[in-house]
Amino acid sequence: MMKIALFGAGNVASHLYRAFSEGNYATVSQLFSRDPAKADFVSSETEVIADYAQLKDADLYLLAVSDDGIAEIAEKLEDRGNLVAHTSGSTGMEVLKKFQQHGVFYPLQTFSKNRELDYRTIPFCLEANSEENLEELKDLAKSISEAIYEVNSDQRRGLHLSAVFVNNFSNHLFTLGNSICKDKNLDFKILQPLIKETVSKLDVLLPADAQTGPALRNDQETIQKHLNSLTGDRKLVYKTLTDSIQKFHGKKL
Ligand SMILES: NC(=O)c1ccc[n+]([C@@H]2O[C@H](COP(=O)([O-])OP(=O)(O)OC[C@H]3O[C@@H](n4cnc5c(N)ncnc54)[C@H](OP(=O)(O)O)[C@@H]3O)[C@@H](O)[C@H]2O)c1
Repeated sequence: MMKIALFGAGNVASHLYRAFSEGNYATVSQLFSRDPAKADFVSSETEVIADYAQLKDADLYLLAVSDDGIAEIAEKLEDRGNLVAHTSGSTGMEVLKKFQQHGVFYPLQTFSKNRELDYRTIPFCLEANSEENLEELKDLAKSISEAIYEVNSDQRRGLHLSAVFVNNFSNHLFTLGNSICKDKNLDFKILQPLIKETVSKLDVLLPADAQTGPALRNDQETIQKHLNSLTGDRKLVYKTLTDSIQKFHGKKL
């Protein structure tokens, strides 16, 4: 079994811990958390530590900590010759260059601590400083998921940026939609079939081909009515996105 020392007790660390525990390829022998009380998801087989001096040898030191924390841990952790990897989308692999064996183990999904996920469908985007290390990370990822990708640091930064658009920004748009519903005393649930179909269409259509709405149709009267009814940030977002849709599709029409 692959022995892992996992760093962090947040969203990603807790999910990876669960995913490794469900399989029989890897075991988390130690979990490093600055605040051991936060590591309340581990079983008695895992030793929880908060001190670098207590770290034992492992096949992989996996840093599932905040982006700023990666550099800090890289500085404090001594190089024992074992593989060290982080789970960040926006952090280059070079942050770990002091370690002879290093890589990246980036799961492309939105993780919240107490939410159940189907790990088999999560894309794992991997990078390493040698073929051997890449194979090691691939074998580990394959024990959890069926979607394994080799992605370099520049591509991963692009993926992370894209994920901000498709996940974080679209979720904020749902939040704004919800607040408009609230103003009109409507239940946001009425919009859920629309939200589901918006995403489901992408199984068969490219996003640009799935676009509908007043901006695409250039329905000026409706656009003006909408703008007149909006103020503040909602108006700014509506105008910016309407302009972007029209520019994007204008080029092609
Ligand atoms: N959440 C996602 O959807 C997602 C998806 C893919 C990748 N990622 C990446 O995965 C990593 C972890 O994200 P997360 O969402 O799990 O973050 P999180 O829930 O905020 O957890 C961060 C963890 O890092 C620890 N930490 C921060 N600085 C540290 C340091 N200097 N030394 C030791 N521990 C430190 C925190 O400990 P304390 O509690 O003591 O502060 C906490 O346990 C990030 O690089 C993130 O970009 C996140």
